[in-house]
Amino acid sequence: MPAIKLNETIFWIGVNDRTTDLFEGLWPINDVGVSYNSYIIKGEKIALIDLAKGIKTDDYLSQVEEVVEPSQIDYIIINHVEPDHTGLIKIMSKLAPNAIFVGTEKARKMIADFYQLEDTKNIKWNVVSNGDEINLGNHELVFYDAPFVHWPETMVTYEKNSQILFSCDAFGSYGALSGKIFDDDVGVDQNFYEEEALRYYTNIVAKFSRFVIKAINSLEGLEISMIAPSHGLIWRRNPDRIVELYKRWAEYADDPTGGEAGITLIYASMYGNTNKMMNAIAQGIGKTGIPLKIFDAARTHVSFILPYLWRYKGVIIGAPTYEVNLFPPIAYILDIALRKRVYNKKTAFFGSYGWNDGAKRDFEKIAEKLKWSVLKAFDFIGGPSEEDLKKGEELGQKIARSILSSD
Ligand code: FEO
Repeated sequence: MPAIKLNETIFWIGVNDRTTDLFEGLWPINDVGVSYNSYIIKGEKIALIDLAKGIKTDDYLSQVEEVVEPSQIDYIIINHVEPDHTGLIKIMSKLAPNAIFVGTEKARKMIADFYQLEDTKNIKWNVVSNGDEINLGNHELVFYDAPFVHWPETMVTYEKNSQILFSCDAFGSYGALSGKIFDDDVGVDQNFYEEEALRYYTNIVAKFSRFVIKAINSLEGLEISMIAPSHGLIWRRNPDRIVELYKRWAEYADDPTGGEAGITLIYASMYGNTNKMMNAIAQGIGKTGIPLKIFDAARTHVSFILPYLWRYKGVIIGAPTYEVNLFPPIAYILDIALRKRVYNKKTAFFGSYGWNDGAKRDFEKIAEKLKWSVLKAFDFIGGPSEEDLKKGEELGQKIARSILSSD
């Protein structure tokens, strides 16, 4: 994609990555891709805000050259050191030898650690703190600390004249850009970016939700005309929309109610017995009208399960006993839930075992760590009888009603 104007002097450039299969080496993006947005402010002095992952270097450099002669860049703003935004730093430091790097003290150290680019030896730094400003002549940049949104060194950059907030990971999403970069350009595809923003949020940022709230609160007084993150859409028509979504998602982290009315039913089955009970329970839940999302844990990456786990207050786990323990794909998902701090859910458990039980016991231990309140946990030997399934259906209905009426 060529460079695109945000206004007469501020430009989007960036890499649309449709070839990386796993973001952070962990989260599948092979179907949707991701963008690494970067921006050029062309004032009396020239600033480049954030870079990109070290792929498609030629395309990125062509975009830079469309807008400015790289050697004339005065400042390279490092909002965040993660290599999806700094992978091109070595080449840019050579092509823009006079550029001063701007970032927090932690960013300066981390760039040295990641790239062996040391202050004064290889690059020049202007280390900034919260509220510091740089005047580009006809543009003024202000830097605000946003620690742990996503790493400890992270900051955001605000351009006073245009009132554009360059927010880096904050307010970002998965999903490569398809020729259109603004919320008002994408029509119904905005839903896609919002869904991918939630997946991105739960995969990447959720653990740091308290810091997200803190950052949103600290930016509250700013007049913002546009939010220009480093992943996904630029929010021009309605910048408040993505801020409100992020705020809502961040608030779920400490929500004692566990979130929205809804149930995530995660199950796995070795020979169909736990699967039969899952269907019976789902049938019972279906009678109540509560939103229900079912995932086969062995066949679905946790990346796609996390958005539902995060939002819905109800979680039902169906898992067989495997070698006297919880079935491994379920154990993995619950471990990720623990790492991401998916707390305060209302939960239930069911599962089949052959001769020794174990899955239910493991589940109850993990549920305690997750601060999940267990409404019901039961297991059964071998296959469920018709009577067992009837009871399962009734139980599904009962659990769903209990979740619906809880707060
Ligand atoms: Fe997009 Fe935390 O890097």
